[in-house]
Amino acid sequence: MVEPIRKYQLGLFGHPVAHSQSPKIHTEFAQQFGIQLDYQLIDATAAELPPKFNHWIKTAHGCNITVPHKQNIMPLLDHYTERAHLTQAVNTVYWKKGELWGDNTDGDGLVLDLQKKGVKLEGKHVLVIGAGGAAQGIIPSLITQGVSRISIKNRNFQKAIKLSENFENCYVSDDKENHCYGLIIHATSMGHYGLHPELQTSWFHENTIVYDLSYGKAAKPFLAAAKTLGCNQVYDGLGMLCGQAALAFEIWFGKKPNITLP
Ligand code: ATR
Repeated sequence: MVEPIRKYQLGLFGHPVAHSQSPKIHTEFAQQFGIQLDYQLIDATAAELPPKFNHWIKTAHGCNITVPHKQNIMPLLDHYTERAHLTQAVNTVYWKKGELWGDNTDGDGLVLDLQKKGVKLEGKHVLVIGAGGAAQGIIPSLITQGVSRISIKNRNFQKAIKLSENFENCYVSDDKENHCYGLIIHATSMGHYGLHPELQTSWFHENTIVYDLSYGKAAKPFLAAAKTLGCNQVYDGLGMLCGQAALAFEIWFGKKPNITLP
């Protein structure tokens, strides 16, 4: 008897999620291996998340989690990986021996994208602008890659201090810090309001790379400001989005997809 082809139920929980690229990215990955997916977008407020997630996940192969639920999801899981523990956030949920695990592939997704772009992280002094969840999500992966130092700049200075204290080689940058950086990463939410943090000419040398964790319209103000200061290696976070998705796909299916930008 011919077995029916299994269709794997996956999805993304967030609020909002309607414009997510994830169904397109994962469906393209699945096609590379002849896997059939039903990748759903599930919009849930914080109050709706526990009942919706607990019901939906019973029949699912796994899911992704996005803003604002990367922390909210954690109490609903049985275990987290070391990466999720270090970043205090989960973007990928999967089943293992009947129990629910949470992992975070965001930081390693960024690293994967930078590697694809030929950027060597080892020995680089990195400036991270922002000290929220997006910043915390990438710092452990940068450290694992052997960056020499991470400086954090944030409007709320105390929040930057608190974040820096969690990691080695991680310091708060104040206005007296007079360095130039090998890599400048924008991790605030300002781009979603058409704004960007101020950049200083003294931060740049001729090989400084600028990366905005947002993509599309939200990345434009910061990347445009960097270009105005003469920086010509600027990237938005679309590659990171694909990188984190590829690593999630590998967790669910044990297969490494080829990454092509949507
Ligand atoms: P995320 O989880 O996406 O990082 P978050 O935790 O709300 O979101 O953090 C947003 C980041 O953007 C913070 O670093 C925030 O700075 P504060 O810690 O000072 O709030 C930063 N941010 C948001 N709006 C900003 C603005 N108008 N000016 C400067 N920084 C801003």
